[in-house]
Amino acid sequence: MLDLVHRWIWRDTERRAQKLLRFGATETDGGRDLVRASEVTPDPLLRRLYLVHGIDEHRHGEMFRRRGGELLRELSVDSKPKFQKFQAEWLAPGGHGADDLDVDNESDDGLLAFLHISEKSAAERFTVYRDVLQEDAPTREIFEEILRDEVFHMNYTLVQLARVSPKRHRWHIWRARLSRLWKSYLRLATALAGVIGSLVLTIQYFVLLPPFAWLAKRQQRREQPGWTPIPPERNDSLRRQY
Ligand SMILES: [Fe+2]
Ligand SMILES: [Fe+2]
Repeated sequence: MLDLVHRWIWRDTERRAQKLLRFGATETDGGRDLVRASEVTPDPLLRRLYLVHGIDEHRHGEMFRRRGGELLRELSVDSKPKFQKFQAEWLAPGGHGADDLDVDNESDDGLLAFLHISEKSAAERFTVYRDVLQEDAPTREIFEEILRDEVFHMNYTLVQLARVSPKRHRWHIWRARLSRLWKSYLRLATALAGVIGSLVLTIQYFVLLPPFAWLAKRQQRREQPGWTPIPPERNDSLRRQY
C-alpha cells in the first residue's frame, strides 16, 4: 500500500524535481553541521570522520540539486503549473529529517547517536525511493549511489559511538530515538493544527462575516450622500492635534 503511495508521489516530474531540490538543501545543511562538528570535537579520529561525512553530504546535496534542475529544465514551458505541487512532505520526507542539529551544545556521544538514527532512517527511505523510481533511471542511480554512503554513515556512527561510550551507547541511541519520535509528533501536531486552524477560519468567514457585511450595507444605505455640515462647536480652527 505504502509502495503505491510512494509510486504516486514520485511519478509526477514536477513534484519529483521539487522534492530533489528540497532534499539537496537538507543534505547541504547536514554537511555544514558536520563541518562544524569536526571543528568542535576534541577527538582527532572523529574530526576526520565528521569532515569526510560532511563532504559526502555536501556532494549528495549537489547531486540532488543538479538532477532536480535537469528535471525542471526538461519540463516544457506550457506544462508549468500555476501553483506549487502538493509535496506530501510528511509521507516522503528528506533523508535526514528536518531536525536541526545543535552541534555546538551536543557531546560526541549524543551527536553520534543522533547521526546514527538519522542515517538509518535516511538509508531506509532512500531504499524505498530507489525502488519506486523504476521509470527514471538517472534519479534512481543517484539514490543508489547516495544510499551506499548513507549505509557507511549509519555504520561508522554506531562503531564510533560504541568506542567513545562503551557502557552507555545503547542509552544514547534510545534517547536519540525518543527525541526523533517527539519531533515527528510535534511536526504532525503542527500540520494538524494548521488544518484545524484553516477549517475554523473558513467556518468563521462564512458564519460570522455575513451579519457584519449586512450591517455595514444597511448603514451605508442610511448615510446621506454628498457633504454633511458638522456642528459649529467642532468647527473651530485647529489648536491641538485631537
Ligand atoms: Fe546524505
Ligand atoms: Fe548521510
